[in-house]
Formats: sequence, C-alpha cells, structure tokens
Amino acid sequence: MINLSNKKILLIICGGISAYKSLEIIRILKKSNVQVKTILTKSAKEFVTPLSISSLSHEKVYDDIFSVENESEMDHISLSRWADLILVAPITANTISKLSTGSSDDLASTVILASDKEIYLAPAMNVRMWEHPSTKENIDKLKNFGYKIIGPEIGDMACGEFGKGKMTEPNEIIKQIEIYFNNRKKNKKYKAIVTAGPTREYIDPVRFITNKSSGKQGYEIAKSFRDNGFETTLISGQTNLDPISGLNFIKVDTAKEMFEQTINNLPADVAVFTAAVADYKIINYENKKIKKKENLNLSLEKNIDILANISKHNSLRPKLTIGFAAETNNLVKNSLKKLEEKNCDWIVANDVSDNSIGFDSNENQISIFYKDKKNENLKKMSKSLVASELVNRVIENLN
Ligand code: CTP
Repeated sequence: MINLSNKKILLIICGGISAYKSLEIIRILKKSNVQVKTILTKSAKEFVTPLSISSLSHEKVYDDIFSVENESEMDHISLSRWADLILVAPITANTISKLSTGSSDDLASTVILASDKEIYLAPAMNVRMWEHPSTKENIDKLKNFGYKIIGPEIGDMACGEFGKGKMTEPNEIIKQIEIYFNNRKKNKKYKAIVTAGPTREYIDPVRFITNKSSGKQGYEIAKSFRDNGFETTLISGQTNLDPISGLNFIKVDTAKEMFEQTINNLPADVAVFTAAVADYKIINYENKKIKKKENLNLSLEKNIDILANISKHNSLRPKLTIGFAAETNNLVKNSLKKLEEKNCDWIVANDVSDNSIGFDSNENQISIFYKDKKNENLKKMSKSLVASELVNRVIENLN
C-alpha cells in the first residue's frame, strides 16, 4: 500500500502522447489520499482536457500565469510553496530545454523556477529526440540543478519507432516518489553536522588571515542532508553565501569558535568537515589596531584541528566522521595519510590546483577514500550533485 497520505503533490503535465498516463497518476495518488493540484501546459491541453483532470483530482486545474482568477486565488509562488513535491510527467524535450536555461514564459516553468522543493521529471519523447546531444546536455544540466529524472524506458513508441523514450509507468513513478518520502521520514532520526567555509584568524581587531574557501560545497552538503530529512546543523565561516533556511545555521569567525560550536552541537550521527580551517593563528593578537611601521613580524602557531579532535573524542565522536582533503599534489598519498592520522571513516579529496573544480567554482571532482573499502573516483559534476552523491552514500551507511 502506498504511504503518501496527506502529502501535497503538484503535477505538471506537458504536451505529449503519454499525457494520458498522467490521469492514471492522479487516480493512484488520490486513492492514496494525496492532495493533487495540476498545471497543464498549453500543448498538454491538446492531449488531455482540464475537465478530465479536475474530475479526477477534485481540484482546480491551473494553466495560465496571466489569469487574474488563478492568481488571486493562488499565485504562482504560493503554488510552488504549497507543494511537498513537484512532479512533471510527462516532460517534453521542449520543457526540458526551457528548464535548463531557466526560461519562465508560462505557468509551469515559472512555478518550477520559483520552487525550493524536490522536483521529479519523467521524460517522454521520440528516441532520436532523447538521444540528441542537446537533450543529453540539458538533462545533465537539470541533474546538476538537483532535479531527479525518472526514466525514460525502452519500448515501442506511439510514433511507431522503438527505443528509449517511453514515459515510465505511473506505478513506478509513484514508487520512486514514495521512496523519497519514506527516506525523509526514516532519516528524521539522524542528526548531521557540517562545517564549511574559511576561518578568520585575527591579527588585530580589523585585520585577519584567511583563505580562498567559498563554502559552496559544504553548503550544498548541508542542504542535501536537510532535503533528505536529517536534523542538520551547518557551522559556517564567513562566506558570501546566503544563510540556508530549514536547518540550524551558525555563523562563526575563528577556528576556536568553529570548534566550540561543533562540540556544542554534538552528539550527531554524521559529521562532515568541509571547512578550510586556517592551519595557523596569531600568537600575539593586538587588542588595538596596529599602527603602520617599517616592518611587521607576525608569529603564528598551529591552530586547533577540529576534525582530528572530534574524531578522536572518546564520547562525542559521530558514528560516521568524514573529512575533506584539499590537495594540489600527491592526492592519493596525502588523503590516505589524513584518513589515518585524523581517525576518519571517509576522506573526500579534491584537487584544488585545478581552477575549474577548485575553491570558488561551482563544480567539483571528488575521490572518496574509505577506511574499510576500496576508494571511489567520481566524475566531474556540480557541487550540488556531489553533495547528493555523498549524502546518498551516508544514508546507505547509516541504514
Ligand atoms: N581540518 C580541521 N581543522 C583544522 C584543519 C583541517 O577540522 N585546523 C579539517 C578540514 O575541515 C578537512 C580536513 O581537516 O576536513 C583536512 O583539511 P586540509 O586543509 O586538507 O588538511 P590539513 O589538515 O590542514 O593539512 P595540510 O594543510 O597540510 O594539507
């Protein structure tokens, strides 16, 4: 029995022959006590009628972003906030292309662009269209945005051809959505801590030493924990990124503060240390602004190692302790050394000498070194996708 009771799903139907299957999706969802609101694109109306949809969903069907009636009842932002999840089934090559460029020229694309919810896409099209390099590129972009793609399947098509492009069957689509909600529920019992961004080590009240870390990878990992149902704490150094809602967001300056906040928020089931903690701090901090002189010698001493401290802690060590290793050379050797010396379960390593995957970029290419199994090399992908790959592995490990 499908356990989706009381969930709110926004179903977007695009124009394709498999749009008729979306009626079956609504029927199954309604039987499982799901509240279903529906958006029809202009071309979807050529395949299914608003009347048949509203008869099944017992809800109004939305289709026009410029409809005064719709907007006064529920505007496009409220519609995207209302949903627990957005499902686009079927999604056509055209809408895939629109979403990949962030275009928002109709209600469906506007709602998706404005959404902060989980988005599932079930493509359906002719095999040549699916295999076209532009569709492939667009799908890769959507995956990197964090959208989940279901199917398509191989089979006979309405156009008479055979190949990959058939929309996944309604039951299977709903099963995947159910897995998502079940995982969220299951993960609610887990607590995750993520450290992110650079630390600042002060020389005097207005000057400090820091590094190039943007915090992007750590923020994406924290978001992914949150989206998967974890009770999440993000302890962040000073970054230019916006705070993240829906989790415990703590901003710190120095390594000492980051360490204290991490300790205060333990115990946790998993901790991921992505922060680029400054290795050194100033020995003689000046309380007053240092005046200009001919020479200034700064004496530095080793900073506290947050990860090593916590992973060696007798009582507070999280079950799964994951460190990061930013390397410019000897990646394998240095990562294995950190894995052992810092008593980690996993080390996630990346080469920061390559600017396209380095500190401030939106992409990353990681290798994961495990204490108890063979290491894995992942291909280059967006930091958001790296985050969900990592969090999926954490979920598998904890369960
Ligand atoms: N780390 C930490 N506290 C520190 C230094 C590092 O918690 N004072 C953590 C980082 O968050 C990361 C891991 O340790 O998870 C490795 O950090 P990295 O900067 O790659 O290594 P270092 O230990 O600083 O060693 P080195 O700079 O020599 O590579």
